[in-house]
Amino acid sequence: TRTREFKELLLKEFHRVLMGESKVFRSGLDMHNTYDVKYKSGPKNALSKHDVMCALKRIKVNTVTKRDEPFARYDFQIPEGPLQDGTFYNTCAVVSSAGALLGSRLGDFIDSHDMVLRFNNAPTDNYTDDVGSKTTFRILNSQVVSKPEYKFLEDPLYKGVSIIIWDPANYSSTLEEWYNHPDFPLFPVYKKFLEETPNADAHLLNPQVLWSLWAVLQNVSPYRLRRNPPSSGFIGLWFSLNRCRRVRVFEYVPSTRASRRCHYYAHRDDVACTFGAWHPLAQEKALAETLRDNSDIDTFQRGFIDITGLATIQC
Ligand code: C5P
Repeated sequence: TRTREFKELLLKEFHRVLMGESKVFRSGLDMHNTYDVKYKSGPKNALSKHDVMCALKRIKVNTVTKRDEPFARYDFQIPEGPLQDGTFYNTCAVVSSAGALLGSRLGDFIDSHDMVLRFNNAPTDNYTDDVGSKTTFRILNSQVVSKPEYKFLEDPLYKGVSIIIWDPANYSSTLEEWYNHPDFPLFPVYKKFLEETPNADAHLLNPQVLWSLWAVLQNVSPYRLRRNPPSSGFIGLWFSLNRCRRVRVFEYVPSTRASRRCHYYAHRDDVACTFGAWHPLAQEKALAETLRDNSDIDTFQRGFIDITGLATIQC
């Protein structure tokens, strides 16, 4: 019953946050449409789990190729093959960076997966008991790539792993427009990384994907969402559902270990990391919670959700 009480409180909290955010929107106080999102409202009927899985399946893993302009003209050495040569995995672990991973002792379980995906600058050294040590993929936002303090070009954290980099473009931007107006100046650093790293498997997510994912979140939500792209966590979840038979996502839907701590690897407290301040994070998590097929004990005590991959879903 403790688990059930926690679950009810958490789901209520998602709705409280989402309602608060949508009120700001409707009151006209939210004038921000930074990315010029032109959203045509989607289906009015509630979507079933199957509908949502199919909507996610329709969004293809689309990355920039060396033949896409302006990247071709500027001679970006983007690898020819798809990420990890398109390998399909049996089991995948998506490790959020949430503070709640601290003390979880989930490391061995995480490492037992065929593929492990991590985010941004989240370390494994000194935290292996809780988060494991294996890394197959990293999803990086453009701040990590472009800001000198993250040392993207030098840090061994970014070597020997496959990398997906994202940065938002305006809703209807072309790649040319994105190249000229990225949120953070990632392109010169990415180009240098490709030149300096032999066999680099590092790709740029086509920013259209972000808005397709955002539209799925908005279509399932009874609330008006903030018009900002989904978090790295949701991108990682969607990517893994495309590439894996089973996906386990760790401390994305918070367990009873959840606290005010933002990241397991830093002391900073900030509840917005868990419930959202810029990304539509509460909606991402509310949606992820509906897609799981494991028990409440797994989810709220052990700290992971388990979702069937998209390959077997018939649409
Ligand atoms: O903060 P950062 O974006 O590097 O964290 C990686 C991802 O982990 C986030 O995009 C978010 O989806 C997830 N996260 C979370 N709860 C936290 C911190 C991070 O769900 N407290």
